[in-house]
Amino acid sequence: MIPVITIDGPSGAGKGTICQLLAKKLGYSLLDSGALYRLTALAGQLKGADLADPDVMGKIAENLAVEFNVTDTGVAILLEGKDVSQAIRQEQVGMDASQVAAYPQVRSGLLACQRQFAKLPGLVADGRDMGTTVFPDAPVKIFLTASAEERAKRRVLQLEEKGETADMATILADIELRDKRDRERKESPLVPAADALELDSTSLSIEGVLEEVLNVVQQKL
Ligand code: C5P
Repeated sequence: MIPVITIDGPSGAGKGTICQLLAKKLGYSLLDSGALYRLTALAGQLKGADLADPDVMGKIAENLAVEFNVTDTGVAILLEGKDVSQAIRQEQVGMDASQVAAYPQVRSGLLACQRQFAKLPGLVADGRDMGTTVFPDAPVKIFLTASAEERAKRRVLQLEEKGETADMATILADIELRDKRDRERKESPLVPAADALELDSTSLSIEGVLEEVLNVVQQKL
């Protein structure tokens, strides 16, 4: 069986950074499932599709022409051959992604693509429903959280480091709206899998979280 480590949780809990460090440390592949929902939203925008139409968006998800190219500086994400690594990180694309992610047609359209990432020697899967729906048999499942205020603070810092201006109140409101949508949707809501270990990163450093995660991985794999 291919060892899959699932790390789920709300936006800004530190999953992205932890998953990248963990995959590098273990020599595993990495699935950034949020990027696939962002790509679906962006592809819809670029095609002038109606983002409120679940059937249209489901078809776009199923037929995404996407490539993840590992480079020295990170991962380049290509949509129909065009580098959209920066474009998919815009706040608006994140909001649109959370809208289309609520459609069952989009979630099922992306399922096969996500499962193809599971390859030897192993996979670290980052998302909301990795442990509950996409890889329910994964031997290691972690649910990483942090308070909404702490997540907003981290996001503001991240944006400021990129030279962008960020308003704390707006970012916090966006995070709370996205959390609500992700937790309350019918299809694959954001909930910890019954066998996931919950880890609160509010007062932990990145190194502290990584150490805890590595301990769990060593115990279970
Ligand atoms: O993690 P990221 O912020 O890039 O994800 C963008 C949006 O995609 C999330 O707000 C969430 O609504 C959706 N998503 C999801 N299931 C996943 C990953 C992301 O619904 N496995």
